[in-house]
Amino acid sequence: MLEVKNLGIHYFTLNGVVRAVEGVSFSIDKKEWVTFVGESGSGKSTVAHAILNVVPSPGRIVSGEIIFEGKNLLTLEKEALKEIRGREISMVFQDPMTSLDPLRKVGDQIAEVLMEHGVGNDEAYERARELLEKVNLPADRINSYPHQLSGGQRQRISIAMAMAFNPKLLIADEPTTALDVIVQDSIMDLIDELKAEGTSIFFVTHDISLAIERSDKIAVMYAGKLVEFGNVESILENPLHPYTKALLESVPDLWSESKEIKSIPGYPPDLRNPPGGCRFHPRCPFADERCRKMEPAYIEYEKGHFVACHLRGGVGSE
Ligand SMILES: Nc1ncnc2c1ncn2[C@@H]1O[C@H](COP(=O)(O)OP(=O)(O)OP(=O)(O)O)[C@@H](O)[C@H]1O
Ligand SMILES: [Mg+2]
Repeated sequence: MLEVKNLGIHYFTLNGVVRAVEGVSFSIDKKEWVTFVGESGSGKSTVAHAILNVVPSPGRIVSGEIIFEGKNLLTLEKEALKEIRGREISMVFQDPMTSLDPLRKVGDQIAEVLMEHGVGNDEAYERARELLEKVNLPADRINSYPHQLSGGQRQRISIAMAMAFNPKLLIADEPTTALDVIVQDSIMDLIDELKAEGTSIFFVTHDISLAIERSDKIAVMYAGKLVEFGNVESILENPLHPYTKALLESVPDLWSESKEIKSIPGYPPDLRNPPGGCRFHPRCPFADERCRKMEPAYIEYEKGHFVACHLRGGVGSE
């Protein structure tokens, strides 16, 4: 359904070129929930924005293809991309105010998404009411302004907008980070319902236990690289990359005696000048000469389970 190949994105800042995403390849199947995890600054949001070609300035996609149902979204005419945006692919962000206009009633905003894609006025308002009920808000909220709603309610409005057309792909970048656990659960349930109706999910979170609970596949990013990708079960049973192992160990285990959170020693690199070889080598307890010199190739280590690590046979290049 969605296939991303060799994606590269740089931010051309006054202080240098930030190589935010490099050589990222993955795919998402129909009705599949893929969650991106990784430390802050690893490039998760940048990849999410690239899918609809909306990487903010001074960012630019410098390589790769994003194939959605056979079409490369990166070379599509503006008009054709506009047709897809909101109808076939929709986005929900961490801060719902990025997709809501503070000065307009939420009902008008939901109806507008529908009308932009050819739905008539009366039908659009009718459908806006239905969508509000679907996200568990009373239909009369149609007349509310965003500031009259709580954070969780606003996030539900932005999900209602994203659901306007039963999109084929929903991109959700940390949609629940600012919300309490109960509201978070109800929003995750809504996304699950969308998935049950046939939508594929590209999800980003800091919370690896949330990723494990809800998704089919996990994509682990480190310093702009996709280092591991596979089914949740195979990643839990057999994490292949030392960074993935460290991430899993950092999850406090609610059932064990120890509530200690292990953090990964060291810091992610400055992406204006990333380390040579494997970008993780300065923090990796297993790094050797090869890891310092050569970049490991991203390979399919076992069926459907990908990794980029010399310890796992990634030959790679200087
Ligand atoms: N507008 C920008 N200008 C310059 N550099 C940027 C810009 N936006 C992001 N970056 C850089 O690109 C890299 C990836 O950032 P991105 O926001 O994609 O990370 P992330 O994984 O989503 O992090 P977080 O978990 O904190 O949201 C970081 O090194 C960041 O500093
Ligand atoms: Mg982000």
